[in-house]
Amino acid sequence: MNDETISGPGSSLDVDAARRRLLGTAMGAMAGTGAVAAAWPFLASMRTSAKAEALGAPVETDISTLQPGELRTYEWRGKPVWVLKRTPDMLETLKQNDSYLRDPKSSADQQPPYAANEERARSDHKDIFVAVGICTHLGCSPMFKPQHPAPEIHPHWQGGFFCPCHGSKFDLAGRVYQGVPAPLNLVIPPYRYAGATTLIIGDDEQEKTA
Ligand code: FES
Repeated sequence: MNDETISGPGSSLDVDAARRRLLGTAMGAMAGTGAVAAAWPFLASMRTSAKAEALGAPVETDISTLQPGELRTYEWRGKPVWVLKRTPDMLETLKQNDSYLRDPKSSADQQPPYAANEERARSDHKDIFVAVGICTHLGCSPMFKPQHPAPEIHPHWQGGFFCPCHGSKFDLAGRVYQGVPAPLNLVIPPYRYAGATTLIIGDDEQEKTA
């Protein structure tokens, strides 16, 4: 991955264009569905300094207080990045989704090699899901929908992310469902841990042991 884009087949996203599309399209779509209020927690949760963003610097965060089932959103290179602490039940649901997914084995280049597994996460922190919160269709930001069952979303919904713009659906590992406009799984950015509870988003070069 270079300094300007997060890339995967068919999913390279220019930073500025992606951000404009993300904010503009998401707000417009939500206004149309009467869900404007849902946009504010997403926007308010962005915390990175402007200087760090301009430099494309990695984002360091302490996940020691992240509660099971909790999702936080950070900003990295102008993009929202989700950090979700999945519960054992959430991880268990991932085993049940394959037949409903387009790319259950993460064959497409949408993640670093260490996240090309069922959980789409580093093996030493499989419960922590880190993903770029941008739909791989046209760049809206999907909504976190952990509740299940939810037949209004999908007959086999086990919790995941729902894009309000055109209805794409992703499971709790960001794997895209079949029969939706989004062609690819959500992008997993480079990341690493510096200690047991310090997560660094945007850098996986300097591996450190916990
Ligand atoms: S942008 Fe997400 S479904 Fe179209």
